[in-house]
Amino acid sequence: MMTVPEFQRHKPDGKKLIVVTAYDALFTRIVEQAGIEAILVGDSLGVVVQGKQDTLAVTMEQMLYHTKLVAGAAQRSLVIADMPFLSYQASIEEAVRNAGRFLKVGAAAVKLEGGTAVLGRVEAMTRFGIPVMGHLGMTPQSVHRYGGYKVQGKQKDQAEALIEDAKALEAAGAFSIVLEAIPAQLAKTVTEALTIPTIGIGAGPHCDGQVLVLYDLLGLFDDFTPKFVKPYAHLKADALQALRRYKEEVEQGKFPSDSESYH
Ligand code: KIV
Repeated sequence: MMTVPEFQRHKPDGKKLIVVTAYDALFTRIVEQAGIEAILVGDSLGVVVQGKQDTLAVTMEQMLYHTKLVAGAAQRSLVIADMPFLSYQASIEEAVRNAGRFLKVGAAAVKLEGGTAVLGRVEAMTRFGIPVMGHLGMTPQSVHRYGGYKVQGKQKDQAEALIEDAKALEAAGAFSIVLEAIPAQLAKTVTEALTIPTIGIGAGPHCDGQVLVLYDLLGLFDDFTPKFVKPYAHLKADALQALRRYKEEVEQGKFPSDSESYH
């Protein structure tokens, strides 16, 4: 079973950390069979599972349900649960309470978005034994502030603020930080400035690890494909082909055949 301290040891050991999202038991088992040992139950499920434009409508109850499915199936993975919008913003007390609920259903850690604004939350959670992963750069829950999913940290002042946020998150106790959609050079600077691992998504090759949304990397979701997504399979195309063949064969009386029938 991958633990938080083991996850962190990858950085000094120089071993890349591989993280993918999963939202159910079936894919959790496939991810583990592939030897991937860190799973993020991302609030990206709002987009790829629920079909919304962004992640903002995802609720605590929905995240708890999916975390329970993943944690119930995981045998080796570090399961990290994403805290949805408005589950940690209002107060430190509410943030700690909600974070704890994820551990009660089997997650080993939580992730939340933001820098300076969430330091008190990160500190309190860590103090009470809840490992926290930070998330900086293009943080999807702030999509309306950014005016869309845009690369962050391109300007000097933005980049400097992000480096300070990363250092502050580490000092507050975060065990790792996701860096999303920022220039590769900035991600390198942040990665070198921290003792905790950085996990990149659209942040270039210099991070200590990488994360991708599972349905993006499998080529299942193609409504919107950011530059940083590489589809390693084309499961949507395969699914379409299979479904069209099934329809055709039923229409033509080829399915079910004798071998699919009981006698
Ligand atoms: O929600 C999510 O899946 C994420 C990853 C893309 C980092 O936050």
